Amino acid sequence: MIRSAGVGDLDALYQLEILCFAERRFQPQHLMYILRNPRASTFVYENGGVLGSLTLQDEDGVVRILSVAVHPAYRRRGIGRTLMTTAEEIARRFGAREVRLEASTKNEDAVAFYRDLGYEIVDTLRKYYSWGDDAYAMRKSMLAAIRNP
Ligand SMILES: CC(C)(COP(=O)(O)OP(=O)(O)OC[C@H]1O[C@@H](n2cnc3c(N)ncnc32)[C@H](O)[C@@H]1OP(=O)(O)O)[C@@H](O)C(=O)NCCC(=O)NCCS
Repeated sequence: MIRSAGVGDLDALYQLEILCFAERRFQPQHLMYILRNPRASTFVYENGGVLGSLTLQDEDGVVRILSVAVHPAYRRRGIGRTLMTTAEEIARRFGAREVRLEASTKNEDAVAFYRDLGYEIVDTLRKYYSWGDDAYAMRKSMLAAIRNP
């Protein structure tokens, strides 16, 4: 089941963060800032515990994915795809023209995941991350999805 996350999910989200992002993880205070940010929305995939999370942001006609993460023991079962489907449903509901995201050029798994879902690399952002790694800017048009559902 996917549901909206609230501040009561902070501990579970931080545990997921530890499991999914070895070094470059959000600290609890940053997760709390996101949970309280009215322009950001966080969702959790729950099945006997929090197994996945998705955070997106509404940016005037564009929905940006800030994070998607699935518990390592539950990957390749479609949870990530289900979370991204939720993001795209929200984007269409908002009337957003596209969904955007950035992924580290070193994160081959995530890039493969996003490409499988129809996201295209539109740019390479040099030193995008504070620790110096490059990122791919990736996009998926929601307008095409309306024309060809
Ligand atoms: C990226 C991530 C969210 C994918 O979650 P998931 O639940 O395993 O993804 P799904 O099972 O829905 O995969 C859907 C499709 O994406 C592709 N895919 C997913 N993981 C992949 C991988 N490691 N390598 C290659 N392709 C992959 C496959 O085509 C897959 O379909 P298939 O399993 O039928 O072949 C997960 O690996 C993760 O949490 N990684 C760590 C956090 C992270 O890097 N997040 C993204 C950056 S914010």
